[in-house]
Amino acid sequence: MAKSNLGSYFENFLIKDSLFRSKQALQTNYDPEAILHRDEQMQQIADVLAPSLRMEKPSNLFLYGNTGTGKTLTTKYATSELASVAKKQSLGLRTVYINCKLKRTADTEYRLIAQLLRDLGREVPATGLPTEELYKILFNILNSSNDVIILILDEIDYLVNKIGDGFLYNFTRMHESTNSKISIIGISNDLTFIDNVDARVKSSLSEEEIVFPPYNAYQIQNILRERAKVAFKEDVISPGVIEKCAAHAAREHGDARRALELLRVAGEIAERASSKKILLAHIDEAENKIDRDRIYDVVSTQPRQYQLTLFSIISLASAKKGAIFTGEIYDFYKSLCDRFNVRPLTHRRISDIIAEYDMLGIVNAKIISKGRYGRTREITISLPKESLGRLSQFLEKELGL
Ligand SMILES: Nc1ncnc2c1ncn2[C@@H]1O[C@H](COP(=O)(O)OP(=O)(O)OP(=O)(O)O)[C@@H](O)[C@H]1O
Ligand SMILES: [Mg+2]
Repeated sequence: MAKSNLGSYFENFLIKDSLFRSKQALQTNYDPEAILHRDEQMQQIADVLAPSLRMEKPSNLFLYGNTGTGKTLTTKYATSELASVAKKQSLGLRTVYINCKLKRTADTEYRLIAQLLRDLGREVPATGLPTEELYKILFNILNSSNDVIILILDEIDYLVNKIGDGFLYNFTRMHESTNSKISIIGISNDLTFIDNVDARVKSSLSEEEIVFPPYNAYQIQNILRERAKVAFKEDVISPGVIEKCAAHAAREHGDARRALELLRVAGEIAERASSKKILLAHIDEAENKIDRDRIYDVVSTQPRQYQLTLFSIISLASAKKGAIFTGEIYDFYKSLCDRFNVRPLTHRRISDIIAEYDMLGIVNAKIISKGRYGRTREITISLPKESLGRLSQFLEKELGL
């Protein structure tokens, strides 16, 4: 490209009308005007928390439901309304929100308590003190007043997987020996999480439980329409686009976040193609793009042995027509290991890794019987052929080949 062309590209870009009015409105952290189809859950949360306004300790509350079903949004809204009423009345009611997925704030018991203390107005060093010491400081703060503290632990399953459920045992018992009372709201999208924690912790954390069911296609349409009004200029969305996004997201676990992402990416694709409207075809393209990006995210965080296995599968699949077999993959994988001085895993382990790729929808492994020669797995790639070259290059780079 001649140097001057890029300059004019940027200039044209500036003049060109964007389809978006405010892309921000499709981002996850945007605070929407209305929370639709969650009246029931909102009311249930309010019923559980309201006694805190009379300075009674509310029950602990456990919220669960699939990803993108509005748990964080609804909880943050309900607790912020509660906090603002409390503030107006000068009540000693505090709400503290902690996202346990954020490494900086909560991936050790120490960090969790340090964050809580900070939110309660007490700075402690980021490391260094014994955890016991932090508990002591917390007890002193809790005993120096008669407040009610509502501690929201979002993505609580992450924390428990990381540090065990001992801290929850402590937290749910604390109110028995302190003047100020802490209540916990735990939020998780792992539906099996609560069944795997200690029985006593389970029964105290889920004194009250609220389920967030997946949204259906009709509900997602409404959510999308509200957002699209803010996000896009008028008449930018072709008929059927919202319906198609919603249908897709409803099929995939009723996830509103996914629907919003789909609409945003479709808008970006339409804009890049200089289309005046978002068309149905842009949704298909957006769907492919999101799937692709998701694969790269997954693959880039995987251990080397996984990447070597996937690279073997892709290399064989591109070189050969039809299905490939576990044995072939293993041989290829072993030759790679030899070349790069990596100790190969067993045939068995590689089979397991292939099965995981199957679960991720990257390959399709079909078990076939070979009569008295036993069974083998016939493997095909589930990705479009066009994307194999790119993924292969990506892996080469990751692996330093
Ligand atoms: N009822 C709703 N009305 C408007 N927007 C919604 C609604 N439900 C969800 N959203 C939007 O969808 C996205 C996901 O919602 P939210 O973050 O609350 O999901 P979640 O249940 O906490 O998911 P996760 O388990 O992945 O944390 C956000 O952008 C949110 O604004
Ligand atoms: Mg959430």
